[in-house]
Amino acid sequence: MRFTDKVAVVTGSARGLGKVIAQSFAGEGAAVTICDLDEKACKEVAREIKNSGGRAIGVTADVSKPEDAEKIIEQTVGAFGRIDILVNNAGTLKDMPIQDMSEEIWDKVIDACLKGSFLCSKYASVHMIRRNYGKIVNISSRAYLGNPGQANYSAAKAGIVGLTRALAKELGKYYINVNAVAPGLIETDALKSHPKYEMIKERQKKDTPIRRIGIPEDVAGAVLFLSSDDASYITGDVLHVSGGRFG
Ligand SMILES: NC(=O)c1ccc[n+]([C@@H]2O[C@H](COP(=O)([O-])OP(=O)(O)OC[C@H]3O[C@@H](n4cnc5c(N)ncnc54)[C@H](O)[C@@H]3O)[C@@H](O)[C@H]2O)c1
Repeated sequence: MRFTDKVAVVTGSARGLGKVIAQSFAGEGAAVTICDLDEKACKEVAREIKNSGGRAIGVTADVSKPEDAEKIIEQTVGAFGRIDILVNNAGTLKDMPIQDMSEEIWDKVIDACLKGSFLCSKYASVHMIRRNYGKIVNISSRAYLGNPGQANYSAAKAGIVGLTRALAKELGKYYINVNAVAPGLIETDALKSHPKYEMIKERQKKDTPIRRIGIPEDVAGAVLFLSSDDASYITGDVLHVSGGRFG
């Protein structure tokens, strides 16, 4: 139990990777804040954790809105007394060629992925600085290296790498570690319901040195390591969880 007495916030944790990351923290003793746009699913994940003996609250919030980001952090501190770990996982994508990409679609992806990570880090860091302790893990993507049809998403995820490196330098003196995880393609329920799922899975197997598709637990393992004191001398780094696939 690496996280007994620790308090973790995982954004976008009503489903997908965020849900598994939050459940993994709870399974190792942390109190967890589940926060998401999806009120019903968010409360349900918090309830499941409590039913299995863990500590959790659900906060409905849009991480790209300053008042909501502040609410996530304040409700966490109100419920559990402090915040030790922030995982900026909330994100969305909307792929298309740049000539078809409206400003609105550009903003939506940048706001959910990048602005949300900035805002939650801003409000969480105030509490972390006071205690000279904190771990921030930002979920980037292998797409930060550049993918066709993902100008908005690739830019947001590359922005997250820049944000991570800047905050690592800025907050290191307060013993706050800031790292990023860059997953490759990970099999979530959403991907499993994709009409071309089998084809995507087979192509991924062929193109990846480790010949399988990623699973949410692969990402959770990396996030929990970077959030643990085993990683206390690692900061500003990007850990690729992509089975060895980089290009
Ligand atoms: N699944 C993958 O293959 C993969 C690969 C690389 C990176 N990622 C990244 O991992 C993270 C999770 O991905 P996923 O596949 O689980 O996605 P998902 O769509 O299944 O889950 C994302 C969750 O974030 C929430 N969310 C979106 N915008 C939000 C906002 N503005 N405020 C609050 N909550 C918001 C959604 O409601 C949803 O519950 C994302 O940042 C994604 O970019 C995923």
